[in-house]
Amino acid sequence: MLVTGGAGFIGSNFVRRTLATRSDYDVTIIDKLTYAGNRANLEGLDVRLVEGDICNSPLMNKLMRGMDVVVHFAAESHNDNSLAGPGAFVHTNLVGTYTLLEAVRAHGVRLHHISTDEVFGDLALDDPARFTEQTAYNPSSPYSATKAGSDHLVRAWIRSFGIEATISNCSNNYGPYQHIEKFIPRQITNILAGGHPKLYGTGEQVRDWIHVDDHNDAVLLILERGSLGQTYIVGADNDHVNNLQVVRLINELMGRDADDFEHVADRPGHDMRYAMDSTKLRTELGWAPKYTDTTTGMRAGLAHTIAWYEQHRAWWEPAKERVEREYSMRGQ
Ligand code: NAD
Ligand code: DAU
Repeated sequence: MLVTGGAGFIGSNFVRRTLATRSDYDVTIIDKLTYAGNRANLEGLDVRLVEGDICNSPLMNKLMRGMDVVVHFAAESHNDNSLAGPGAFVHTNLVGTYTLLEAVRAHGVRLHHISTDEVFGDLALDDPARFTEQTAYNPSSPYSATKAGSDHLVRAWIRSFGIEATISNCSNNYGPYQHIEKFIPRQITNILAGGHPKLYGTGEQVRDWIHVDDHNDAVLLILERGSLGQTYIVGADNDHVNNLQVVRLINELMGRDADDFEHVADRPGHDMRYAMDSTKLRTELGWAPKYTDTTTGMRAGLAHTIAWYEQHRAWWEPAKERVEREYSMRGQ
């Protein structure tokens, strides 16, 4: 199995989960090791890491020889960065996916493409709808537009060239090894560094949070039992939890006053609400999230994630000052 972007957050957790739960996978990773990729994410894992760009066609073709399957996580993944500099998003998410598609086509390798709920745009807070596999695409940011484009490319290569591929669109992940630019680890590490959580705008935005292991279990199921050519929505039914509640819960779990946070400048074009209907995945493949509870659905997963950041200061501390400097230059 070739895993693109396997040194990033979800990809490295995917490789760890695969090797922990399966004995018959031999894993190679291709990763450019951008600011978001980290060799340390793979410590202790029996894998081969090739440092390289998925846009490098000769390299991708060489790597494809002898592969049975490719799982494609590599992407520029952060919305705020896509507003500051969209070029890298077009390069990796579109040109990179195109390059990969041509390589799997040439070598007859099965592909699973990892995508996001953001391709569907957002819902109003009072809209009870959820995204399904039939929802029309309506992306808002340069990040989500390039992810939407990459999904379209995969579907076109399935239909026009008959490649063997599946797609999954998942909601917001959280868990260990997530880069501290992202919402949940940023707040946890702000507190651990002696600062305050920073909430964009009013904090009423809703994300359908899912623990990264639940996402990756879904990816493994789709890879092994999914129907070729199909798309699967992945979500854990947390579409009732807003950012303010998440910040308050993090404060509470870290023994602080729930309301001890700062409001900072909002994200331009900020999507309001995402909500996923994962009925197809649950009924066809029998998937269900394991990180659930009766209140926010996130308490156990968040407590575990907070403990991980407490125990892995050496992993995140070197990046903290730069990340916060960049946020503070944008008033965030
Ligand atoms: P991440 O930013 O943590 O990791 C991305 C990885 O891709 C990094 O290791 C980076 O070095 C690598 N990469 C970037 N450009 C590359 C290139 N040109 N060639 C090779 N490697 C390159 O991202 P993540 O949060 O782990 O997201 C992984 C995938 O899951 C992305 O496709 C993202 O769109 C999707 N996704 C993310 C979430 C989420 O909540 N984080 C939710 C749904 C879907
Ligand atoms: O929905 C899936 C998407 O989730 C993935 O496709 C993206 O790769 C991933 O980055 C994530 O996108 P979001 O933009 O939703 O995630 P982010 O962690 O940046 O922000 C989550 C919410 O928290 C969002 O409403 C913005 C808000 N926020 C974010 C930061 C960094 C804050 O209030 N404060 C912050 O400091």
